[in-house]
Amino acid sequence: MSADVVEIKVRENGPYKVTGPIRLIDADGNVFELPDDGRPVALCRCGASQTKPFCDKSHSRIGFAAAERAVAESEGS
Ligand code: FES
Repeated sequence: MSADVVEIKVRENGPYKVTGPIRLIDADGNVFELPDDGRPVALCRCGASQTKPFCDKSHSRIGFAAAERAVAESEGS
């Protein structure tokens, strides 16, 4: 993977795993402190994390089933 490309990988029934140099900003414009050691960041998409926007693995506890597995593209919209 090129260093100038941010990779966002969807984890099955889990978070978005973001790898690459990113700047994460909340709704008020505050910038989150992120490690700059190249480690990926996992962003919650289940809504249950107590450490939003980061994943705290609560998706496993609640049995999160990602929408793309529940609704086929041809059935949407
Ligand atoms: S996706 Fe992991 S806690 Fe929400």
